Amino acid sequence: MQDIHELTIICGIDKSGAKEDVEKIRICPGEIIGIVGPTGSGKSSLICDIEQLSQGDTPTRRKILINGKAPGRDIRTDPRKKRIAQLSQNMHFLADMTVEEFLRMHAKSRNRNSDTVEQVIDIANTLTGESIQPGHQLTILSGGQSRALMAADIAVISDSPIVLIDEIENAGIKKQEALKLLAAEGKIVLVVTHDPVLALMTKRRIVMRNGGVRQVITTSTGEMNVCSELVKLDNYMMSLRDTIRQGGLVEQAVVV
Ligand SMILES: Nc1ncnc2c1ncn2[C@@H]1O[C@H](COP(=O)(O)OP(=O)(O)OP(=O)(O)O)[C@@H](O)[C@H]1O
Ligand SMILES: [Mg+2]
Repeated sequence: MQDIHELTIICGIDKSGAKEDVEKIRICPGEIIGIVGPTGSGKSSLICDIEQLSQGDTPTRRKILINGKAPGRDIRTDPRKKRIAQLSQNMHFLADMTVEEFLRMHAKSRNRNSDTVEQVIDIANTLTGESIQPGHQLTILSGGQSRALMAADIAVISDSPIVLIDEIENAGIKKQEALKLLAAEGKIVLVVTHDPVLALMTKRRIVMRNGGVRQVITTSTGEMNVCSELVKLDNYMMSLRDTIRQGGLVEQAVVV
């Protein structure tokens, strides 16, 4: 795929067949954009449209443009050319191989050297509480370990200019760190979230309802201030969670 300077979503129709309320959304490299909305409102479907580079051929009738143009068929169908990475909502490894074998194979297919394997495991282990070992079978990894491994794999090996993330907060991994890792400089990142901290960490957020885009909200200065307060609260909650997980006691509340 050529250098990407713009990803455009040309909106289509909602679940009732009515036009979406926003016509077009333009996203440039370096932007993290949120996708929010109730359960079943079409957040994952929007992510899927981008992943497939839909051209009016899905139920939403959306079209996805790269640098203002419809991408050719070769880009849509060849994963090496497409370079869109997705951390999906439901993810399980089915392959009967070890973590190391899988990462070696992936690194080789992307012409990366074998040092990257160790690097991916080290980074994944900063995101999850339960350590991942190179000799672990992929199929025995917990949900949190699998998602941590995929996040690190996307960041280090795939290194795609477009990254799609579906509800990272439910993965049982350090969500803010994972988002920062995946949103490396110059990438276009779309993150589906129900989490106020993650939603307010973005510059803009797409609001979904009934399968359609309803509006795009720009995060205000007031919201950014709320976000910094929420980060403190969230870190406090995480530290309590860790203490409780490790069998500790939390008898004194701290005012944040
Ligand atoms: N524009 C649309 N037209 C027709 N069907 C749609 C449209 N958008 C979404 N759907 C369908 O609605 C259902 C729910 O959508 P989706 O899974 O994307 O919701 P979600 O917001 O991700 O929900 P959750 O928060 O539970 O993950 C899916 O079956 C999807 O195919
Ligand atoms: Mg979803």
